[in-house]
Amino acid sequence: MEIKRVGVIGAGTMGNGIAHVFARSGYSAVLCDVEQRFLDRGMETIGKNLDREVAKNKITTEDKAATLKRIEPVVERAKLASCDFVIEAATEKFDIKAEIFRDLDRLCRPEIILASNTSSISITKLAAQTKRPEQVIGMHFFNPVPVMKLVEVIRGLATSQATYDTVKSLSEKLGKTPVEVNDAPGFVSNRVLMPLLNEAMFAVMEGVATPEAIDEVFKLGMAHPMGPLTLADFIGLDVCLDIMRVLHDGLGDPKYRPCPLLIRMVDAGWLGRKSGRGFYTYA
Ligand SMILES: NC(=O)c1ccc[n+]([C@@H]2O[C@H](COP(=O)([O-])OP(=O)(O)OC[C@H]3O[C@@H](n4cnc5c(N)ncnc54)[C@H](O)[C@@H]3O)[C@@H](O)[C@H]2O)c1
Repeated sequence: MEIKRVGVIGAGTMGNGIAHVFARSGYSAVLCDVEQRFLDRGMETIGKNLDREVAKNKITTEDKAATLKRIEPVVERAKLASCDFVIEAATEKFDIKAEIFRDLDRLCRPEIILASNTSSISITKLAAQTKRPEQVIGMHFFNPVPVMKLVEVIRGLATSQATYDTVKSLSEKLGKTPVEVNDAPGFVSNRVLMPLLNEAMFAVMEGVATPEAIDEVFKLGMAHPMGPLTLADFIGLDVCLDIMRVLHDGLGDPKYRPCPLLIRMVDAGWLGRKSGRGFYTYA
């Protein structure tokens, strides 16, 4: 079956980026969220991000208009029944995603693949919510989606080879580079990245160096485009804490203990760039 029409659940940071790249690659996309205002905000972001691509001469103004026309924002989830592939990018809570997967399993044709963009929730557990676990897979895009090349493709315990092959080729058609990973807490990206960020936070807490100094070490010494504390603020400190907890609970090793300073900052509502304050302050 040829995939032409794609469903995206969640119009937030990742969902609008995912709808953007599918539509820009010629797919028609149905973008679904729970309220019209989230869809309006998502479509506005897509418009602005397409403007950036026009300004960089990556696409023309006609491409922008055609891309926007291929996206249908909807509140009614039933409209996803016509899709040939669905990817979920809703809030990172197991209960929310579990309900979505049960409902999609009921709504979508039996041959349709259901993917999740989760950064840490078990694909195997999401697949077990459906009667088609062999057609459930992780398709983990990176922020900002229109720019970042990587898609971590995560096989759940039951994911079939055919499902993996389809999602690998779909990622390539979007101009992305898929990397195959098995289902384990944090997959590869967050399993390796988050302990680095967490350790940088321990270094701040213990007075080893300032956030500025630590970030400078990584930029100049390791050629990282941004230091670990700037990156943590960008990702969101609440998201960092949730992922450290997934690693700690799922792998049971004390080396994944979330930094107490991180916990205190999240308790204070200092969530990084999005709240105006994290390891740095933002206007
Ligand atoms: N932000 C990142 O850097 C990043 C990177 C990779 C993966 N992810 C993953 O992507 C997913 C989405 O993250 P985000 O940063 O875009 O979050 P976000 O908060 O920006 O957006 C989530 C959206 O999902 C919507 N939503 C919630 N419940 C829903 C439901 N039942 N049906 C439809 N829509 C619903 C919300 O209204 C919101 O608009 C999460 O699983 C997250 O772990 C995030």
